[in-house]
Amino acid sequence: MNSPDLFHPRHRFPDDFVWGVATSAFQIEGAAEADGKGPSIWDDFCRVPGAIADGSDGRVACDHVRRLEGDLALIAGLGVDAYRFSVSWPRVQPSGRGAFNEAGLAFYERLVDGLLARGVRPYLTLNHWDLPSALQAEGGWAARDTVHRFVDYALQIGRRLGDRVAAITTHNEPWVIATLGHEQGHFAPGLKSRATAMQVAHHLLLSHGLALQALRAQACRSRLGIVLNLSPIGPATDSAEDRAAARLEDGRSVRWYMDPLFTGAYPQDVWQHLGADVPQVAEGDLAAIATPMDFLGINYYTRGVVSASGTWDVKRSGKALTDMGWEVHPEGLTELLLRLHRDWTLPPLYVKENGAAFQDQWVNGRVHDRARTDYIARHIAAVGDALAAGVPMAGYMVWSLLDNFEWASGYAKRFGIVHVDYTTQQRTLKDSALWYRDFLAAQKAQRQAAVLAA
Ligand code: FCB
Repeated sequence: MNSPDLFHPRHRFPDDFVWGVATSAFQIEGAAEADGKGPSIWDDFCRVPGAIADGSDGRVACDHVRRLEGDLALIAGLGVDAYRFSVSWPRVQPSGRGAFNEAGLAFYERLVDGLLARGVRPYLTLNHWDLPSALQAEGGWAARDTVHRFVDYALQIGRRLGDRVAAITTHNEPWVIATLGHEQGHFAPGLKSRATAMQVAHHLLLSHGLALQALRAQACRSRLGIVLNLSPIGPATDSAEDRAAARLEDGRSVRWYMDPLFTGAYPQDVWQHLGADVPQVAEGDLAAIATPMDFLGINYYTRGVVSASGTWDVKRSGKALTDMGWEVHPEGLTELLLRLHRDWTLPPLYVKENGAAFQDQWVNGRVHDRARTDYIARHIAAVGDALAAGVPMAGYMVWSLLDNFEWASGYAKRFGIVHVDYTTQQRTLKDSALWYRDFLAAQKAQRQAAVLAA
């Protein structure tokens, strides 16, 4: 057993609690031009000088498409209940409209069938950021027509895989797409306009709601929802200015998504603040966005601290930081989950991503990534605390199965519980993977003991 002391077993998780690992298409697949795949906005963004810290791209990544069989064995070997992955839209529909690409669809059928054959439930995400370039040329997410293109794509995936995947997530982290991609320009497509970002956020939410309606009309059997990146946002000091700034940031990053999804309205304070940058909203849009979901996914990495002057320095927190410079703050996850449960009426909640990048050290062919194991164990305990307080938690997934292409940071930041040697594509389980495997085995043993005792 690896570092069992890192997890304090004060929590008993429900027998049907779903334990998993997560990845996304662009970050691991490679095969960027194989078998009829079209380009995505991330292929294009990687070619912008200076956009990616190490000048890398996703052409090979973890070479996952060609190494599917080995990776399936790796996933199953961890003993997870579920594997969260995303479909590359331009792999299955190269230009985002019209003909679908049979070879691309066949790859995901192999993935899904391979998981099922190994007793692992597939959790599919439709949009983990790699929009077909051809749609960006027509305005991308800022164009209302992209909403309808997305619904068509969702329906095709529903037809081909909806009978076999446990869950379909429409979008991963709409805030990131809108804000980092269209307002700050750090991520694809690299635009810098707040008005565009707000229109993009609205279209993402609208396409989510309409896709849910269309999939249900098609009698899709998967559970349907969305994944948001959320953090508790607090003021740096108790000053009125800092508190107001934190409230606004909470409005822009949390309530701007939670309110329309669960109450059918945008938060009025943020709407006022945006002035001329508010999105165009057509009649019926908000009702569509509020279409009931079967689950809500949350990605959590750290808390947010805001000062009105913008001078908050995370190093002042005195807490450990990850290699991304993100503060390790597991209590923030419990705080967030309790707040969501208090402020909205929610379906079952899943942590769909949680994990940490650290500079890993090799010692005698092993990676003793105790800091990552500690991070994961403490966040699992934080989920347990939320469960114990009555939050309807249904699952937890580690980000990430593999070291992979970490967007604008390139390959320098390693989030994997499995190390990837990018020269040889060799996979090596880090200590965190061994710990997670042992932890899951212990969970299963507990479940079985409970069944026998019943
Ligand atoms: C999230 C992304 C995921 C990964 C982690 C570190 O925002 O959804 O793809 O990059 O951050």
